[in-house]
Order: sequence, then C-alpha cells, then structure tokens
Amino acid sequence: MSWWQETTIYQVYPRSFADSNGDGVGDLRGVIDRLDHLVDLGAGTVWLSPFFASPQRDWGYDVTDHCAVAPEYGTLADVDELLEEAHARGLRVMFDLVLNHTSDEHPWFVESRSSRTNPRADWYVWADGGGRRRRPNNWRTAMEIPSAWQWGEERQQWYLASFLPFQPDLNWRNPEVKAAMFDVVRFWLRRGVDGFRLDMFGSIMKDPALRSNPFRPGMLGGLPRLWLPVHTRNRPENVALARELRAVCDEFDPPERVLLGEVFGSPAELRAYLAEGDGLQLVFLFDFLTYRYSAAWLRRTIARFESAFPPPLQPTYVLENHDRSRTVDRVGGDEEKARVLACVLLTARGVPTIYQGQELGMRNTYIPLREARDPVARVFRFIPEALNRRIPERPNRDEVRTPMQWDGTANAGFCPEGVEPWLPVNPDHTRRNVAAQRDDPSSMLALYRGLLRLRRDHAALRAGTLHLLDERHVLAYERRHDSGDVLVAANLEDHPAALPVGTGARLLLATRGDVELDGPALRLPPHRAAVVAPGRT
Ligand code: NOJ
Repeated sequence: MSWWQETTIYQVYPRSFADSNGDGVGDLRGVIDRLDHLVDLGAGTVWLSPFFASPQRDWGYDVTDHCAVAPEYGTLADVDELLEEAHARGLRVMFDLVLNHTSDEHPWFVESRSSRTNPRADWYVWADGGGRRRRPNNWRTAMEIPSAWQWGEERQQWYLASFLPFQPDLNWRNPEVKAAMFDVVRFWLRRGVDGFRLDMFGSIMKDPALRSNPFRPGMLGGLPRLWLPVHTRNRPENVALARELRAVCDEFDPPERVLLGEVFGSPAELRAYLAEGDGLQLVFLFDFLTYRYSAAWLRRTIARFESAFPPPLQPTYVLENHDRSRTVDRVGGDEEKARVLACVLLTARGVPTIYQGQELGMRNTYIPLREARDPVARVFRFIPEALNRRIPERPNRDEVRTPMQWDGTANAGFCPEGVEPWLPVNPDHTRRNVAAQRDDPSSMLALYRGLLRLRRDHAALRAGTLHLLDERHVLAYERRHDSGDVLVAANLEDHPAALPVGTGARLLLATRGDVELDGPALRLPPHRAAVVAPGRT
C-alpha cells in the first residue's frame, strides 16, 4: 500500500492554530512549534489550509501569488522548515491549492480586466451577455443566492465568480493558464510537499457554450439548490484535467504525491475523478458532514461508498472542516454521540480527516452574523439573528474557526495574554483544551489518540476489507485482514444493545468504560461504540 492509503489527515487552519509572534493571527512557525501535538495524537498527514499571499478577504482562499507566503503567516524559509520538521517526525504534508479562482487583486486579473485585448484578456471567464443589463446566463454562486456573474466596467463585460465576487474564475480552457498553474504545482512539489487538497475542483471546468443550468429545486451537499448545476459542476473535462495534474505530480514520484479533491456529487460522479487510477487519488466524501445520527443512515451511507469505492480505492470521510458545524453541535451538544461518530470515522475503511480541535470536542463559538468576519456570513447578513441561531447549518464560518484551545489561560495558549486574537476564543477553553485533556484517560483527546493507536496497531483497520453486519439496532461491521479481524459496533439508540462477538473476544477500545464483554456478548449502553477482536463463534 502507498503511504496515503493508510494515513489519517489532520487539517490545520493556520490562521487559528497557533500564533508564535503575538499578532493575534496564527502562523507557520506556530504550526512548526505544535507539530508534536499531531505526533502525540497519531495523525499521519497534515493538510494546511492556504497560507499564500492574499488580501485575506476569504482568509487565504483568495490568492494573489500562489508561490509566495502571506507575511502574517511567515516566509518561504518557514515553509521549508515546516516541511523538514514534519518529515523528520514522519508526518506527510499537504497544501491547499486554490485552482478554480484567484483574488480579483491578483496581477493576472488586474491585467485581464483592464481591456479586451491585453495578453491575459482570456485568462478568466469573460462573456458579453446582453450588456450591463443582462447577464450571460443563470449560473449561481456556491451560495445559490447571488448570480455568479460580475460586471467589469473597463471591459464592459461580465466575469464569472463561482464563489464570491472578489474571486474570479480562471479560464482553464486557456493553455497558458494551465501551464502557469502547473508551474505553481511544480514549485511546491520541488520544495517537498507530499500532496494537495484541491479547492473547488468540481467547479473547475464549465460548459464552453455557457448554457444555463436547468431549474430543478433540490438539495446538493446538504444545502438547498434551485438550479441543477449540470453545466458548472463535475463536467467530464474535470476528470481529464485531474489526469493532467496527476501526471505533473508523478514527475516528482517518489514519494507518491497525492491529490485530494473537494468535489460534491453522487458517489458515481465522485468516483469518476479517480479515473483509471491515473486521476486524483482521493476525493472527499462530504455526506458525513450532513449526517443523520442513526445506525440505518450510517449503514446506508457506508454501503453506498463501499460499492462506489471498492478496494483498493479509499473512501475519504469527513465529520468536520473549516466550513461546517462542529460535530458536537450537530448532535445537540451530546458528547457521547460525538464519541460514537469519532469511532465510526476512524474505523470505517478509508482515509479519515480530522479538523483541528475536533479531537478535543471543540464546539461552535456563537458569533452573530453582524459581527462576522467570514465573507459568506456577510452574504447572509439579511437573516434575522433569532432565525440564524435556529439554523443548524449556520452560514457564519467564523464559529468553527475560533482559535485552537491549547490550555486554560486567557487566550487558550493560542496567542499571548493581552493580545487580541483575530477571532474570539471559545469561553469553554478553560475546561476544554489540550493541556487539560492530555492526561485524562476519559477525555475526547484520549479517545482520538486511542483510536489512532488502534489504526496503527491493527492492519485490519488500515487495510482490511469492510463487511457490514446485518444487525438491526446497532451499526456493526467487520474489518477483515489476514493478520486478524476487528469488529466495530456502535449503538446509536437511547436504549442498551447487545451483540454476539464470539467466545474469547477481546475489547480493544470503547468510547466509555461502561461497555462490557459478557461472555460472548458485547453490551453497549445507549450511545456507545466499541472495537473488539472477535472470538470463536
Ligand atoms: C472551499 C473552501 O473550503 C472555503 O473555505 C472557501 O471559502 C471556498 N472553497 C472558496 O475558495
């Protein structure tokens, strides 16, 4: 198996991880200083959200120079040191590549927008429409509400911005754009990065005829949609581009460099990105971000992805990231349920991803829309606050980006006391923090550490096949491997459950100490999960 097939990815949002120079903003040196936390946790790969030059209007997902480091995060020398220090600890490193768009302050766009005839006139997606009064078509932004077309005064034309107006989409049909961006990829590969998470890769190519999307209300990626984005998402050309990008990565193999796509769609659409083993290696499966806390739902979802991504393909499950609600908040604040989900995430077949603070059970930090620094939240500022508080998938992403909670001091050890962190620290940091949980065997951190240790110790969890068991009330599956099988059982109900696990079974881990082996039966109180070495039946 290649390293990435067996790894666990830990997502660092550098702005909120650790501030080494006391300006209230996290930085690369802060990440270097805290790498041992990842080692202690047992993660295999660190994925860093963007730290590239940017006016920070979307906190780095609006790049002005893909090969430069934003000064508040550090320097290229820091990047080199981070790679070196991570590698010295056996960690792999992935960067976040924003390929779909740049900042509107990127010199390429400044030039492109200046006239219809400049050398970069065709580097972005420009169209006439019907003059300034009529947009070229009905394409919407990722937020669905505003149109994706923005008026460019100098050119008297519309430009496409699929996310926010200040993030114009690059024209990937232009070979010069492709060549320039491939050089960016080579630039980082040469410095030793092990792979990339590809931002908005599903939207990268659009219909060249700019046909309008059909009106068909429904849900997509857990969010309501009015138009079905057939002409703007998951186009077959995306897969061709995935192959080309992979070929660029393969120029630098070994070690094998990995591409992980941010794509939304049906399992079949997602599977297509892996091509014949020569496309992306991994795609996020975001269904767990919109999960229902039920055994039946989890069983169905795992079964769907098992059939779309059979071995040796690896599903890539996600419970949290910098865009979506924290797990504990999704399950109504019940930490026991979050523990059960952690157990499923880290024992199902695939590459799990953990978002910083998830391992502590960090909570959303409520921040009203009117105080939001998140540009998406500002789009939704019209939502009354009382209503906003009742929406489970609240649009203010600040709430999941507050500083990492290292200890119980005033700024949670994120930045020095007396400095104002860029986002407020969650008041619960006095209790919920790394220092407090490190030596507490009943903590969430201990649970994550224990699960990751099990993954290391049992090849079945890293590389075994997955077989769902036909249990009605519990979610149960076996991970089978020549070196020994492992059984996982999760009770997501409000009443106790029991499961036959064979004579001589051994309890390897449980989400709480009240899970028992009673002869050949595993007894699970409500909202508990366990990992067992099965006995003889
Ligand atoms: C997806 C990223 O996860 C999100 O944080 C960002 O704002 C958008 N892409 C735009 O790049």
